[in-house]
Amino acid sequence: MQTKLWHLKKNSDWTQELAEAAGLLRQGEVVAFPTETVYGLGADGLNATACAKIFAAKGRPSDNPLILHIAAKEEILPLSKNLSAHAKRLMAAFWPGPMTLIVPKSELVPDLVTAGLDTVAVRMPDHPIAKALIQAAGCPIAAPSANKSGRPSPTTAAAVLEDMEGLIAGVIDGGLANIGVESTIIDTTTAVPVILRPGGITREMLEEALGVVEIDPGLVAKNVTPKAPGMKYRHYAPRADMYILTGQEAAVMLERLVTQALELGNKVGVLASDATANHLTPQNRLVTYSWDSKAELGQELYEYLRRFDAEEVDLIIAQAVTEEDLGLAIMNRMRKAAGQNILWAENGKLLPQSGSAPSFYDTI
Ligand code: TXA
Ligand code: MG
Repeated sequence: MQTKLWHLKKNSDWTQELAEAAGLLRQGEVVAFPTETVYGLGADGLNATACAKIFAAKGRPSDNPLILHIAAKEEILPLSKNLSAHAKRLMAAFWPGPMTLIVPKSELVPDLVTAGLDTVAVRMPDHPIAKALIQAAGCPIAAPSANKSGRPSPTTAAAVLEDMEGLIAGVIDGGLANIGVESTIIDTTTAVPVILRPGGITREMLEEALGVVEIDPGLVAKNVTPKAPGMKYRHYAPRADMYILTGQEAAVMLERLVTQALELGNKVGVLASDATANHLTPQNRLVTYSWDSKAELGQELYEYLRRFDAEEVDLIIAQAVTEEDLGLAIMNRMRKAAGQNILWAENGKLLPQSGSAPSFYDTI
């Protein structure tokens, strides 16, 4: 299949391109589009045959349900029933935006979309192209992140093409996604709402709106299955082994670990704060990406992981951030990318907190 690419420029007239893309969606084809979080792989959310094509293109397990994207708040009504007071309050506070609500599903939503669950995930994205596309299609658009299952979510059209070229009807290029990590998913069907996936609408923001929220224990405890089916997979995985350094001496120990890894002949990828990265001496076999804020790290994280793959580094060493605000979502994605390999830096030593250490760790 030839994948069509539309480049849309800011503040220009997209009517023609979006009419073409929406036409393909109505015919049951799959089209990728930008949102403020990551790019989505869209299909007519009420057409099970079209949605089946999403699962096929992604190689997605059929037990992992999709999010329905809408262009106006009231469009949730026909898709759901018994919206809770919590759900209504969250819609008023944070839509359009990077927040997905889990609500009881109506008969209208195909079982394939919800993987047989009696709840459905709904989100109203805050992106002019996403909004205009949903409006032009005239139906809710089912869209997971537009990556192959197990790969980092795409934040650019180029990253979508890397995974999806030839497999889908089209890609709308709307530039770099702003937030860079996927939406916050919150289950509104329980007495106390539960965060199933941390994201751009932070725990602190949700607590302010609702008073109290819980975090799905499956996100942190190793022996508890997460409630969002997709969260149990090792997503966001770069090809190289990745290690996260945390603790007060993380910056110093990162420098030592990197030096050692390089001396042993490895090509090393580093992801660290600007201050930490400044201490590293640039050289051929060292690929460094640094950030000066959580917002910048969130926006670039997946792109950096993809570039480490393209550079064919042997291992990736990343500095942790505090799990406040956007940091909770970033650390959730980094931990998954690292397969839980977290090293605690203290007293000049690196202690594995979870997962494993690099094979040369003993010598540190
Ligand atoms: O930011 C985002 O949410 C992006 C953009 C494209 O909107 N979409 C996205 O979709 O991240 P996806 O499919 O990659 O992740 C959806 C997550 C999965 O973990 C899935 O298991 C969970 O939502 N999910 C969907 N429906 C659910 C339901 N009824 N109950 C619990 N979890 C659900
Ligand atoms: Mg995804």
